[in-house]
Amino acid sequence: MTRHFLEIDDLAPDELRGVLDLASLPVAELPPVLDRRGVALVFEKPSARTRSSSELAVAALGGHPVTIGAVEVGIDTRETAEDVARTLACYHAVLCARVLRHETLVRMAGALDTAGIAVPVVNLLSDQSHPCQALADLLTLRQELGELAGRTVAYIGDANNVWRSLAFGCAMAGVAVRTASPAEHAPAPDDMVRLRQLGGTVHVTVDPVEAVAGADAIYTDVWTSMGQENEAAARRRAFAGFTVDEDLLRSAPSHAVVLHCLPAHRGEEISAAVLDGTQSRVWRQAANRMHAMRGLLAWLAAVEGWSP
Ligand code: CP
Ligand code: NVA
Repeated sequence: MTRHFLEIDDLAPDELRGVLDLASLPVAELPPVLDRRGVALVFEKPSARTRSSSELAVAALGGHPVTIGAVEVGIDTRETAEDVARTLACYHAVLCARVLRHETLVRMAGALDTAGIAVPVVNLLSDQSHPCQALADLLTLRQELGELAGRTVAYIGDANNVWRSLAFGCAMAGVAVRTASPAEHAPAPDDMVRLRQLGGTVHVTVDPVEAVAGADAIYTDVWTSMGQENEAAARRRAFAGFTVDEDLLRSAPSHAVVLHCLPAHRGEEISAAVLDGTQSRVWRQAANRMHAMRGLLAWLAAVEGWSP
């Protein structure tokens, strides 16, 4: 069965460790497993980090990335998501996509599976999840903290796509997650069930100060995600008091590092002083997007049996 990567728990915990191990290897130690293979990178939404890090990860493994914008393929407008997937699979070894609706990825993977086409589909962010980001987040935490099991991450903000993949990944790695969100943007009951099934320890509160107690890392994401721009004013009101700022940092252990998937809005979910301060590791985290993607692609190549 083809190994699609639509959410972080499509990997087993030992496979997740394996991807992080591959991501930690110097480029020179990885064989060019994508030699002369194409990797499609479809974007229905904008991207700075994901596009560049993915293109360079593909190139580092000897492959050829082809970035494709929303208008070019017109998923479900020019042709169906299934036909886009079947078409791109004629040329590419991996089909990566950033989509408006998570269901699009599920349909693409389903169409390829039904046709017996062994091309993995990789989620480059959907409304539900951002598993490639979570790989980079865990890689950064591992570099900063060493062994992950027993550590604690505090997440302050919207329990949305980035939170979901991070929380699932933390659960798989034995990292406790303390989440502070306004009640209407708190983790959904289904997510809590899935987290517990993954063995996660999750504490949910509406109080950021309570969330950061004992945290080894503090994480936040934008209040208004791509596609929610018409809710921006209401979200600013809902998230007032949830800024990761110097005051909040004083309530956390002094060794805590600060992470943000970026893009950041200084003065909203994070203050400039914290984002640009000494505890911030956001640029290391951004750089790790490339290493994490290289690790994931190398792992897929190994399980799919591609050789240089
Ligand atoms: N963090 C992240 O996915 O950034 P981009 O939206 O710029 O790709
Ligand atoms: N939650 C944000 C993440 C951006 C990387 C969004 O979906 O826009």
